[in-house]
Amino acid sequence: MTTGKFITFEGVDGAGKSTHIAAFADSLRQHGRTVITTREPGGTELGEQLRSLLLHEPMHLETEALLMFAARREHLAQVIAPALARGDWVISDRFTDATFAYQGGGRGMSLDKLTQLEQWVHGDLQPDLTLLFDVPLEVARERLQKSRDLDKFEQEQDDFFIGVRQVYLQRAAQFPQRIRVIDATRPIDAIADELQQVADSLCGE
Ligand code: TYD
Repeated sequence: MTTGKFITFEGVDGAGKSTHIAAFADSLRQHGRTVITTREPGGTELGEQLRSLLLHEPMHLETEALLMFAARREHLAQVIAPALARGDWVISDRFTDATFAYQGGGRGMSLDKLTQLEQWVHGDLQPDLTLLFDVPLEVARERLQKSRDLDKFEQEQDDFFIGVRQVYLQRAAQFPQRIRVIDATRPIDAIADELQQVADSLCGE
């Protein structure tokens, strides 16, 4: 049996990561891997209920962080850990880097407290690889303008976005072995080519 890998996609709203997840999963499947795709907050029935609260209800910033980690605990228990134990590959649209970026960098919650929660919820499990879709504020704004029904986070002001991006990039500098920064200002095809190469090299080509 092959060993499964845990891969996460991250980035500010409007960076375009969601467009690439299905194609990336298919590339891995073409290499014979069994792949599940999932997302945070969400990924379980309870997690999806928490998601709708988190994306639409105003709440204290620590409540927000605790609910993100509560949804994540369930997601790990129900979906991620069992899949990895079977040897499947798991691709998650966001994980704990998003909590550091959004609740830490965006909202200003203490990064030390977030580190303690991370330690508590999944101290021994980190993604094998994180693809961080990076775009500057202006590009993110332009892309978001095209979508309707913006959620609570997408409606935030510029300084929120700047704080989110800054913490993402700090984490990429802190964990260069795990986090690969994707320049998401490029055309979709160029990014898809880069992701194909990432899939090939993960599968040993
Ligand atoms: P997102 O993944 O961008 O989904 P969609 O493409 O449907 O908008 O939306 C999830 C939102 O939740 C996003 O704005 C980031 C936010 N979020 C946090 O603030 N903290 C977290 O820990 C996670 C996982 C997400």
